Amino acid sequence: MTLQSGPTFFSFPAQSHEGGSEEAAVIAGLMAESPWVSPKYLYGPLGSRLFDAITELPEYYPTRTERAMLEACRENIARAVGPEPTLIDLGAGNCEKARSLFQSLKPRQYVAVDMSVEFLRHSMSHLQRDFPHLEMIGIGIDFSAGLRLPDAVRRENRLFFYPGSSIGNFTPAESLAFLAGIRAQCAGPFGGGLLIGVDLVKPESVLQAAYDDALGVTAAFNLNLLNNLNALIGSDFSVGDWRHYAVFNAALSRIEMHLEARRDTTVHWSGGARRFV
Ligand SMILES: C[S@@+](CC[C@H](N)C(=O)[O-])C[C@H]1O[C@@H](n2cnc3c(N)ncnc32)[C@H](O)[C@@H]1O
Repeated sequence: MTLQSGPTFFSFPAQSHEGGSEEAAVIAGLMAESPWVSPKYLYGPLGSRLFDAITELPEYYPTRTERAMLEACRENIARAVGPEPTLIDLGAGNCEKARSLFQSLKPRQYVAVDMSVEFLRHSMSHLQRDFPHLEMIGIGIDFSAGLRLPDAVRRENRLFFYPGSSIGNFTPAESLAFLAGIRAQCAGPFGGGLLIGVDLVKPESVLQAAYDDALGVTAAFNLNLLNNLNALIGSDFSVGDWRHYAVFNAALSRIEMHLEARRDTTVHWSGGARRFV
């Protein structure tokens, strides 16, 4: 048995779906008739920590519910998955849900994928300390532009793990492309599968509270997206000019987080600007 010195790390530069620059794709979203930003920009050194704090809130039921389900089903999951899987954790964050499966799954290799690279490195260094004999690979990529895995990732018995109802961050068309990408990675003689966590519709008051908590942690998480945009496209969003709110979109059957300008405000970035009223 070998002792791992630490996780191996790979990271690849971000690219938009269309192959253009990430900045151009974000600006196009901001200039749309109904401005929008991909939820992936919520994360980063601070956003990932704020998300961790959200998972501790009494209103935020998804994490503790899913944790309990994984705990209750872990032996059945292990039986269905088979021996020595390659566990590939998509949007691993603090890696805690995957950690809870290690004992029953006994993965041969753990691969954690997340675009919030600094946070992932931190999470994995703790994990490697606790599981010194498990081979770990960290991959810092934005998987919405395609799931490229380095050759170091074992082909055998891949188990893609996508918990947290994160599939809801994609549009239906994006979800299909994403799932097809995973399917392609499981095709062929080596096999593989997907373990996914998807939330169901709840009473609106439950959803509303989960995404707009009394302490205002989710509001801070959402508002911090503006700081992330400023860093990415050089814009001058001022957090104090905006307020967070959450709404259940019944037509699309999804909970949405919005940012609303508190006053008439114009935001600038290199080569452009937009007025929000
Ligand atoms: C809702 S959190 C879930 C964290 C953890 N898996 C859990 O279930 O508690 C989503 C995670 O996915 C990562 N993420 C979001 N969009 C991503 C993308 N397009 N590519 C890579 N990572 C992404 C975020 O950085 C964050 O760590």
